[in-house]
Amino acid sequence: MNDGLNLERYPEPEVNLRAWNAADTYLLEWINDHRMVGDGACCVVNDSFGALALGLIAAGEPEVVSWSDSFLAHEGARANAARNALDTTNVTWLPSTAQPQAAANDEPFGLVVLRVPKSLDHLDHQLNALAESIGPDTVVVAGGMTKQIHTSTLKKFEKLIGPTTTSLAQKKARLIFVTPEVEPEARPRPPAKTFTTSGGLTLIANPAVFSSTKTDPGSALLLEAVAPLLHHQDLDGGLRDVVDLGCGSGVVGLTLLQSRPDLTITFTDESYLAVNTSQASLEHNLDRGALTSPVEQHRFLVDDCGATIADGSADLVCINPPFHDATAQTHAIAARMFNNAARMLRSGGKLVVVGNRHLNYHTKLRKWFGQADVIASNRRFVVIAATA
Ligand SMILES: C[S@@+](CC[C@H](N)C(=O)[O-])C[C@H]1O[C@@H](n2cnc3c(N)ncnc32)[C@H](O)[C@@H]1O
Repeated sequence: MNDGLNLERYPEPEVNLRAWNAADTYLLEWINDHRMVGDGACCVVNDSFGALALGLIAAGEPEVVSWSDSFLAHEGARANAARNALDTTNVTWLPSTAQPQAAANDEPFGLVVLRVPKSLDHLDHQLNALAESIGPDTVVVAGGMTKQIHTSTLKKFEKLIGPTTTSLAQKKARLIFVTPEVEPEARPRPPAKTFTTSGGLTLIANPAVFSSTKTDPGSALLLEAVAPLLHHQDLDGGLRDVVDLGCGSGVVGLTLLQSRPDLTITFTDESYLAVNTSQASLEHNLDRGALTSPVEQHRFLVDDCGATIADGSADLVCINPPFHDATAQTHAIAARMFNNAARMLRSGGKLVVVGNRHLNYHTKLRKWFGQADVIASNRRFVVIAATA
């Protein structure tokens, strides 16, 4: 970056992809020109790999809170801090499931720097939470690539925080300046939303979580294909421990519990909100009597591709792998998931994966599993099963 930091993507650098973008550079330049270092705690929202948080620390800011939904973004930032020998004792790595606030006191932030998230509902959710820690003197500046900033984005800032203006574009990035003014009572709160699966579960719809308004059609096909495996003792030694790897809203694991409440499911994702939402949905369906399997029977784990799940501890792993990392297409995450699935399965255990046809997971899986069979397909998706 042009502030001299050597930043890499995490966990591995990817060819042609940088760890920051033009919006990060523009934001740091603007902050450098317009802010007195140390004028209140800084809150950085949606930082990727530490570009903003570490940029502020390198500029001498004494207190930074990095509020993010991504465990990988936090891990990447910590790795980049070590790479640049930066002391991050004064950085709080705060998960999105916690209320953003300064670590030292409950004063409003001096500065809030936000990378505009992809979805408007997600922005709504974040601004509502941030507004509690924004005072009349807080400097609020957001940034993004011009194609991500629409009139509706600016209206959202106006409605929830206060009058909003934008900068000229620089290298296809634009900044948004917001003057805090909206009184808390005047702020419209988003209603809590849910959606119902075809099997009758009511899932919490969190706008930050994948497929938050309906079951993803790929996951629906995966569930159809897995159903017969649950009752035919197809798996050597029976079926007990299941990993919902990249669980999102938890739709896969929770649906399996409808027909097999005795299973122990590990719901794991790198999104703090995904794991939190999966647990909240289980609790909600227990309250409604739609599920009977107690929360303590299961595990809710924020992790990178299940890296910390023990070897030989699972009978079934289900994955609908992500193939986008922010805006970039990537196969690296799916490959890490397959690698860990091969490791965590007991001998005779099964991996079931769904993906768009063109992703060709069928061939890729042969690196870890001798054989991989297509067990269901439709025009868009293919479900593949492989045995450990
Ligand atoms: C295609 S979505 C599937 C979500 C859910 N299983 C479903 O069927 O609706 C992929 C999920 O993988 C998660 N993910 C992305 N990178 C990950 C990583 N490195 N480790 C764990 N989960 C990850 C995403 O947050 C997302 O929830």
